[in-house]
Parts: sequence; structure tokens; C-alpha cells
Amino acid sequence: MTIQPPKQTDPVTLHPTIFVILGITGDLASRKLLPALLELFSKKLLPQNFAIVGFSRRAFSREEFRELIREHLNIRPGQFREEDIKHFLDHMTYEQGLFNDPSAYERLSLRLQSIDDRWGQCSNKIFHLSVPPDLYEGILTHLANSKLTLPCDDMTGWTRVLIEKPFGNDINTARSLDKMLGKLFKEKQIFRIDHYLAKEALQNILAFRFANPMFEPIWNKQYIDKVHIKLYENDAVGDRGAFYDPIGALKDVGQNHLLAMLAIVAMNNPHNFSADQIRAERARILKSLRRISPRKVKQHVVRGQYAGYLSEKGVKPLSNTETYFRVRAEVTGARWNGVPFFLESGKALSESKAEIDIYFKKFKKSSTDFPNILTFRIQPDECIKIKFNVKTPGYGFDVEPKTLRFKYADVSSFYDAIPNDYERLLRDAFAGDQTLFASTEEIMASWRFITPIIENLASLPLKIYEKGTMEIE
Ligand code: BG6
Repeated sequence: MTIQPPKQTDPVTLHPTIFVILGITGDLASRKLLPALLELFSKKLLPQNFAIVGFSRRAFSREEFRELIREHLNIRPGQFREEDIKHFLDHMTYEQGLFNDPSAYERLSLRLQSIDDRWGQCSNKIFHLSVPPDLYEGILTHLANSKLTLPCDDMTGWTRVLIEKPFGNDINTARSLDKMLGKLFKEKQIFRIDHYLAKEALQNILAFRFANPMFEPIWNKQYIDKVHIKLYENDAVGDRGAFYDPIGALKDVGQNHLLAMLAIVAMNNPHNFSADQIRAERARILKSLRRISPRKVKQHVVRGQYAGYLSEKGVKPLSNTETYFRVRAEVTGARWNGVPFFLESGKALSESKAEIDIYFKKFKKSSTDFPNILTFRIQPDECIKIKFNVKTPGYGFDVEPKTLRFKYADVSSFYDAIPNDYERLLRDAFAGDQTLFASTEEIMASWRFITPIIENLASLPLKIYEKGTMEIE
């Protein structure tokens, strides 16, 4: 494994930066972005000169805005020092405006300019779109037209845009979003967030595979029988019904999080661990997923909906939207041909966990031993487990399975150092490291795989399962 050069994440070397949150009063900003930024701030991982500028429709006085943000941060007693919270809030300002009003972007531009004037230099700018995807196109166009996304000159003040999934709604809409992004920005300015890529235990799969030479020789169809990738959620859709119902589980987490996990398990050694190489290897795997033809959808896909989904707020009375899916995917090519990769996810299941099980082939088909299973628990209780056979002590020669386990929580220096996924992503965005962000190639390849399944989903029976169970047959 080649060790990477240190990344430019030392806060002292980070150039002054303004982080603009378009849609700061929304759910994403309060649940993910602001807490992650406060965490980075309290760990002194943000540039010394940094500012957060919130933008949204509602009008607030300075004090009201401060109070709103404090409330959104939802801070537990003792979680942060009061002084840090106060200083963090001092770095925030607000600009009110409508997303479709060009004059609002002019005012935003003046506000950013006034911060630069105060600092006496041209700062970097990051724009995060914390808005529903149907607003992306309008906002990005306004940002570009108002020249907000232009650097001050060739050398100073880079600008970056952070965009959340879903990137489009199928292959065609993804393509047009991509085309528009491509016209307005260079690829190195675009940071597409799939927060699963930033999960610590998922990244560790690359270290496990490529820093331990004993596993790579058996990482192929000769030794591996099947791979099972799970994202189970105990929670039902809750108050997200109106967002979730037109989308469904396959688009919500299948096209992105599950395929991101698959790509990391199946990818080749990138040899040099640069962002470009890692992203290219992930994309190569996604491109080699075998398309599931309409004829084969019934054999390869199961869809389900939990009982009671139709009474959730925001859900259409006769909705056929899947809250559960299981897809049998295959990666073509010499290494994986014929090995099934099961992708499974659902809401209102019996437990919440993200996990990847690698089932190895048994030594002899007829023997009574159990398959070796290597498990990567991505969350919660991050761990790696290997199930292996041992002789049952005694006079006979029976074998039974036992488990070797490395659990992060058992090593507090490991467990305590796990960054929250958004913290990691935002820090990398400041530092300009795109490794954990999806490339346009990855997005297109995953839609190419998922779109034909979605187009034929209606032909499958919708299995109704009880909330809190795993019985979906
Ligand atoms: C989001 C989906 O992208 O990921 C949600 O929209 C899902 O429906 C969530 O609950 C799961 O992420 P995490 O990090 O909570 O496992």
C-alpha cells in the first residue's frame, strides 16, 4: 500500500474560507452540516479565518438568526465549551433572499466581498446546496451568472460547490444535471456527497484489503461464494414521507450508498492512493455491473413495503413505493464473474445496521464444516469479524464455528478518533481532497445499473411486511 503524502488539512495552512449554506434553515443544515462544522471548529480544524454565510427565504434579525442556529445545533449539555459555541456563532452571518431572484445573489456577492475586505484578502468560497434537488439547476445557474463561483484570479480564492444526492432521478435526469454542472464548473470544483463513502469503517476495507497481503490472493471468484451488503434501518419513514414516497428505497439508498459499499469491496488495488485513482477504480467496478434485463428482474429483485406505510404523512393513499429491496447484482470480469453481490436495504426492519458479509467457499462441498464469513460492520458498533472452524474439544473430530473479532470500541484510541461522516467530508472539501466524493463517472455508472431495475419494478409483487421484522418473503 502506497502511503499518501500528507493532505493539506493543517488549519494553519488552510487559506481563509467562506462556507455558504444555501438553504440554511433546512433539515440537512441543522442535522448534519452545522453540527459537523461546530465539531471541526471546536477541534480547531477549520482555517483561522473562516465564515459561514447562511442564505434562505425567511427574514431574521441578527439575534433571531443566532438563536435559530443555536437551537438547530441541538447541543447536549457539556458537549462543547460555551466559549467555542459563542465564537462559532460569531463566525456566522445571514443573507435573506429568494433562490430565483438574481438580485439576492448580487447581495450575497456584496456580503462575501465585505468579508474579504475585512480580511484584506481574497478568500476561498464553498457553496453547499442544502435544498431539494429540483432547485439545484436554478441556484447553480444563478451562482455562476452572478460570478460568485469565479475565483478572484487564476491563483487565489478557489471556489467549490458541494451537492447532495440524489444526483438526478434516473439516468436521463442525472445526465442533464451532469451536463449543466459540466458547463458551469470544472470537475475539480464539484464535490458530490455520498456520505457513506466517508464512513470510517468502510474506508477501512481498503486498508484491510491492501495493507494485509494475506487477503488479496483470495479476493476473487475462486474463493468467494457470495457477498451480502446490508443497510437495515429500524426507523420508518417518519416525517419524510413527502420526500420519500416519489423516490423509494432503491433510489434513496440503493443507487448510492449500497453501490458505494459494493464498489469498495470489489474494486482493484488502485496502487497509488490518489483521489483520481481511487475514484477511477470505484467507477470501473460500477461500470462493470451486469445490467439486469426486464426478463430477469423477477429472478433478481425483491421489493417490499412495510404495513402501515400508506398511513404515513405525505405518502399517497395507494402508493406502490418500495421501502425494502433485495437485488442480486453481478460484477462482470475475470475477478468476479458469477459471484452474486446481494444488496439489501429497508426501513422499519428489526434492527439498524450497515454491514458487509463476505462468504467464502467451503473447502469441500460435502463436508460438515461451515463457510468462513468475513464481516465488516460499518455501523453501529464498527468491527471486523471472521468466522472460522475449530475442532470441538474432545475425543471425536467435529468442527464448529467460532469468531475472531476486532471491535473499534475495544480500543478507545480508535473508537474516539472516528470522525462523523459529515465532519470528514467537510474537512476534505476545505482541503480539496475529492477521494470520498463521487465522480461523475461513478454517478452515471450507478444510474445505468439502477434505472432498468426501477423501470421494471412495477412488474414485481410488492411484498407487505410487518414493521420491526425481517420476514419479507
Ligand atoms: C440517506 C437516506 O441518504 O441515508 C435516508 O436519504 C437514510 O433515508 C440515510 O436513512 C442513512 O444514512 P445513515 O448515515 O443514517 O446510515
